[in-house]
Amino acid sequence: MRRAPLLGVLCSGRGTNLQALLNAARAGRLPARVAVVLSDRAGAYALTRARRAGVAAHVVDPKAFATRAQFERALMRRLQAHRVRLVCLAGFMRVLSPVFVRRYRGRLLNIHPALLPAFPGAHAVRDALAWGAKVTGVTVHFVDEQVDHGPILLQEAVAVRPGETEASLLARLHRVEHRLYPKAVRLVLEGRLRVRGRVARAYRKA
Ligand code: GRF
Repeated sequence: MRRAPLLGVLCSGRGTNLQALLNAARAGRLPARVAVVLSDRAGAYALTRARRAGVAAHVVDPKAFATRAQFERALMRRLQAHRVRLVCLAGFMRVLSPVFVRRYRGRLLNIHPALLPAFPGAHAVRDALAWGAKVTGVTVHFVDEQVDHGPILLQEAVAVRPGETEASLLARLHRVEHRLYPKAVRLVLEGRLRVRGRVARAYRKA
């Protein structure tokens, strides 16, 4: 029997997207298994979610390393030890270096709470509201050497309602994220994507 491809998920915080991936895998909606969760923060609730699901969870504390290169080598060692094929960034609040990105090119995904290239960065929801955007959304993309920049796999728009607060908008964006991320991971694992330059296209397998 073929073994399910293994995912590594990198988180810094609550881990609701991690939970969505765990749930999808458990329900058979994702042809994969989450093998390891890594966090740069010891207090990340994502670690608790992983352990509850019986998944290996490790803190890789950047402060324990003299350089970013050493920190990233520690991340890569963990991913390799768990034979991870695809790496999902899910609220991982660190920029990965080109060395890491090249090592996992085409196998490194991120989810962002805006319609890229609008509102990149760590405050996408707040920025969209402050800008007065009427529509924002969610993007799942491959990670390249620039922040929130690589080829887009999936996007979905979310309307900004009158009187919207950051919390209310974030809650609706999260609902979309939790549906979109497992779907994007499935597309990659099923090999149903062609990437030419910046443009990733999904197609049906014959
Ligand atoms: C999500 O909104 C994601 O788009 C962004 O970070 C947030 C992580 O949330 N990259 P969670 O930790 O998955 O709940």
